Amino acid sequence: MKILVTGGLGHLGTCLAERLSRGYEVTVLDNCSNHLENYKLSDAIRVLKGDIRDYDTVKKALKNTDFIIHAAAQIDVERSIRDPIFDADNNINGTLNLLEAARKQNNIKRFIYFSSAAIYGMPTYTPIDEKHPTDPISPYGLSKLTGERYSLLYHKLYNLPVVCIRPFNIYSERQNPDNPYSGVISKFIKQIQLDQPLTIFGDGEQTRDFVHLRDVVSFVELVLENDYTIGDVFNIGTGKPTSINQLASLLLKVFKSEELGVIYKRERKGDIKHSVANIEHARRVGYDPKVSIEKGIEMMLKRKSMSSTEENP
Ligand code: UD1
Repeated sequence: MKILVTGGLGHLGTCLAERLSRGYEVTVLDNCSNHLENYKLSDAIRVLKGDIRDYDTVKKALKNTDFIIHAAAQIDVERSIRDPIFDADNNINGTLNLLEAARKQNNIKRFIYFSSAAIYGMPTYTPIDEKHPTDPISPYGLSKLTGERYSLLYHKLYNLPVVCIRPFNIYSERQNPDNPYSGVISKFIKQIQLDQPLTIFGDGEQTRDFVHLRDVVSFVELVLENDYTIGDVFNIGTGKPTSINQLASLLLKVFKSEELGVIYKRERKGDIKHSVANIEHARRVGYDPKVSIEKGIEMMLKRKSMSSTEENP
């Protein structure tokens, strides 16, 4: 069975490609735009350099594919505000190219669309379930939502076996802290390595649902194997909130760097106060996140102290 992973050289895509290559023939399609996130993949994985904005490239990449995991996207919220056309071109038009090529191919067994918790905007209640209103506050959130709506429409109109995943704050020991859009965890770890205090934006009481990449990948495996997920949308998180203050204390303790402390800076514009997923829907189809934030951070410490080559999370 063949799988195409778009964005297969990114943080999420590389992990998916490596894990799935144990049971599937994996091809990745990536435009290599994110130089900071380009990992070396194992030789068993076929790498196609190309852009999802180009229909012919997408059509060729899809040839003979059974499953598609669409993880390629413009993911920088600030860039989406600066350049909404670039954002829409990647996240809407690129998605549409894939959907259209998949529809024409006519024998796709699964089309997994990676959406984002950003589609909810400022939550009106927590934990956020899939029925929560969607009201994005950035072009990025809107383009991810539009891609999701197109995907679901292709399921309804053309019976394309679509499944949409809405991840919350994904992290792993693979995340590159030098990438300006890396998450808070890898940024804090970088500051610890540089012997700097951790920079907290706002009062640090804002909360996030940090989900380890390993749990996200396990859910993808479940979706690939189970037809009953088709046509549905799933939040993927842990269901547990962690405040940024709690996160900072935990990291400083685990990395034995409590003396560094934290400094507070002005709150980020448009920062969501509380974000935590209700994951009951995903649980009902067998999702069972295993990596708590405490365990995930221990794993990061282990990785940082290992000098050996990269291992897949
Ligand atoms: C995350 C996702 C984003 C998604 C959004 C959905 C990541 C990297 N980003 O954004 O793709 O659209 O959820 O809601 O996972 N913070 C600090 N100090 C720092 C860095 C961050 O205090 O040095 C704070 C931020 O102000 C924020 C929290 O940590 O309150 C999390 O920030 P970040 O990891 O950048 O992710 P989100 O903004 O939640």
